Amino acid sequence: MSGDARKTAEGLSYLSGFGNEHSSQAVPGALPEGRNSPQRAPLGLYAEQLSGTAFTEPRAHNRRSWLYRIRPSAAHPAFSRADNGLVRSAPFTETVPDPNRLRWNPLPEPAPGTDFLAGLWTLGGNGDATQRTGMAVHVYHANASMHRVFSDADGELLIVPERGGLLLRTEFGLLHVEPAEVALIPRGVRFRVELLDDSARGYVCENYGAPFRLPDLGPIGANGLANARDFRAPVAAYEDVQGPVEVVNKFCGNLWSAMYDHSPLDVVAWHGNHVPYVYDLRRFNVIGTISYDHPDPSIFTVLTSPSDTPGLAGVDFVVFAPRWLVGEDTFRPPYFHRNVMSEYMGLVEGAYDAKAEGFVPGGGSLHNMMSAHGPDRDTFDRASAAELAPRKIDDGLAFMFETRWPVTLTAHATRADHLQRGYDEVWQALERHFRPLH
Ligand SMILES: [Fe+2]
Repeated sequence: MSGDARKTAEGLSYLSGFGNEHSSQAVPGALPEGRNSPQRAPLGLYAEQLSGTAFTEPRAHNRRSWLYRIRPSAAHPAFSRADNGLVRSAPFTETVPDPNRLRWNPLPEPAPGTDFLAGLWTLGGNGDATQRTGMAVHVYHANASMHRVFSDADGELLIVPERGGLLLRTEFGLLHVEPAEVALIPRGVRFRVELLDDSARGYVCENYGAPFRLPDLGPIGANGLANARDFRAPVAAYEDVQGPVEVVNKFCGNLWSAMYDHSPLDVVAWHGNHVPYVYDLRRFNVIGTISYDHPDPSIFTVLTSPSDTPGLAGVDFVVFAPRWLVGEDTFRPPYFHRNVMSEYMGLVEGAYDAKAEGFVPGGGSLHNMMSAHGPDRDTFDRASAAELAPRKIDDGLAFMFETRWPVTLTAHATRADHLQRGYDEVWQALERHFRPLH
């Protein structure tokens, strides 16, 4: 199963760029030229618009695509409530917001036959899915490919694989995503996740707010951070499948299911900028100091979901990618800090330079608004005494979902066996060194 899927994944073609108008057709003549042609689409297809932003949002931020499909999406039976599994949504009210520093080990092995959707486990989040504000942190652990199709009306899904490759069969075509890459499924886009290895594990940021975009670069200039050309959208590919297909829709916090009599992944051609994409985090052009001190981690922002307040993100996706450290007179790991924003961190591979141990690939930590954190004792001692010669950090890939509001946990996140007890202890051994001058 996974062998054939991997062969398929490795032969994929892509369209390059971020936020621009793409177009693709799986069959010649399927894409009308110069017009959207909803009256009579080519080849007997149905034309359908999928809006990712309000019609009237400014052109620079407007997202929509036109899909040319075998059946219109409207041709479906009624949805019925389905079991939410361990998926939860904002508003998060199962627990009170917790000011403690918290850390989790990876999710345990799931039961055989667990697909991506059944393997989704919500850690917590903020905002309100019905108000299109805030975000949720999920992790997943799956050992079976999906046969059903999923879409999320509540937000876009930023998938961060940590173990195991994925083949995403979307309405727009196929995407192949491996650990050290990320994939984004826009709000409302239908997709199926197939596993390319025996199991798959990773993280998902569900962004209820404005679609992720590339951050402005300001004085950095026209290049740097995540470059637009490195984002890959799929080329059109469709399924012409009759027969029962379960389609699950996440809507205002609940899963709803309907049994279609055909596959909804039947888009033969499309054009637009509301599209799924993949980005390789190793392409991130890291910017940092070449003099002294240590810039704030906002300099590592890959994607940002802005709020109504300039500079204040609903959620930022930040990567700590391999990079050279050359600054003089600086403390090179993350410094001690308290942040008005709330930070969920995960680790894709290797080690993170602020923690000697305990923060492992597939695990995660949560440092909520104003919670004090920073290096552990061993890291502090080592970094404080370090000779500051140029050094390359290339032994790990960590990331952060940084959000404007505290992350309130689900009940199952607070009582999970894989929640680490005693995380506070990593800071308890920090000694008093103060010696006032007399
Ligand atoms: Fe932090």
